[in-house]
Amino acid sequence: MKVNGIHYRSIWYDTADDVVRIIDQRWLPHAFKVEVLRSLESFAIAITDMWVRGAPLIGATAAYGIAEQMRRDPSDAALDRAWNVLHDTRPTAINLRWALDRCRNQLSPLDPAARAESAMRLAHEIADEDVEINRMIGVHGLEIVKRIAASKPEGEPVRLLTHCNAGWLATVDWGTATSPMYHAAEAGIPIHVWVDETRPRNQGALTAWEIGSHGIDHAYITDNAGGHLMQHGMVDMVITGTDRTTARGDVCNKIGTYLKALAARDNGVPFYVALPSPTIDWTVQDGMKEIPIEERNGREVSHVQGILADGSIGDAQVAPDGSPLGNPAFDVTPARLVTGLITERGVCEASPEGLAGLFPERAAA
Ligand code: MRU
Repeated sequence: MKVNGIHYRSIWYDTADDVVRIIDQRWLPHAFKVEVLRSLESFAIAITDMWVRGAPLIGATAAYGIAEQMRRDPSDAALDRAWNVLHDTRPTAINLRWALDRCRNQLSPLDPAARAESAMRLAHEIADEDVEINRMIGVHGLEIVKRIAASKPEGEPVRLLTHCNAGWLATVDWGTATSPMYHAAEAGIPIHVWVDETRPRNQGALTAWEIGSHGIDHAYITDNAGGHLMQHGMVDMVITGTDRTTARGDVCNKIGTYLKALAARDNGVPFYVALPSPTIDWTVQDGMKEIPIEERNGREVSHVQGILADGSIGDAQVAPDGSPLGNPAFDVTPARLVTGLITERGVCEASPEGLAGLFPERAAA
């Protein structure tokens, strides 16, 4: 999508300089910085320390990390090491493992001399596929937005609430939960988006920044405001992303998503999840029991990043000195609370039958 009128992806290969570049998300929304990733270690750090983030983008970054490593050393040992180093960066989003397995399965049988070129081609393929998947999620999600718009008085906006950043910054382009928003804006359907701040890392600020850059009407709200807004009839639809969805439709997403789903159910507000198929983990059923939830550094809770009085970007401490800190980064929303899963192949029920109906070949495998 666009930044100051220029189209960007969140990760791209710069053919002029022969390097992979990323938007360094640590500084957004306050500063727009682009970084070069040159070594396997720099790819791993970029994922662990959230220079890049969001399940689909983590997957694409891992694929480019493998490609970079294959240019330096295409041996079997280097391929295995790259898989392990990248795999150990973050535990919850399944796209990481999906991309790494796809790379290893495709590259392993090749003669090492052919691996560098194939790995880079595959990384481009994964990135391009992600863009198309997310575009199609927008096409299908738009139909839901249109239906809600048709049920409202002419010209009244459809009011969506979203949590975290499932935007183009969390993917390669378009975003998952934001794709229907961008499509609605293009179609001239008035929408208003309630954007949850999403402590501790405030990814909602990224959502507000990116949809704001595209002129989409929105308000940035505290994480605790959603239930109140739903009780007062001010939300027509909740739409979130997901970092891993199980074969039975349990949705693991940024911490706080579950509470939004509970409030939505209590108030009769439809709760949709934008789900690219690489985010489905067909090997697990029970999200609560089987998905590893990342516990991140407590400093993300004790401190908040922002613009300081002198205009620089810095951290302010909000927790008392010495308070023990807890920072689970994701939670699981059971399938029964999900109205529908919006995938690139259409919308389905959050159930084994719903997912298998849209992806019969994957479910069978
Ligand atoms: O910890 P993050 O920022 O990598 O979290 C991932 C997310 O951006 C969200 O959970 C998102 O809703 C799913 S990824 C499109």
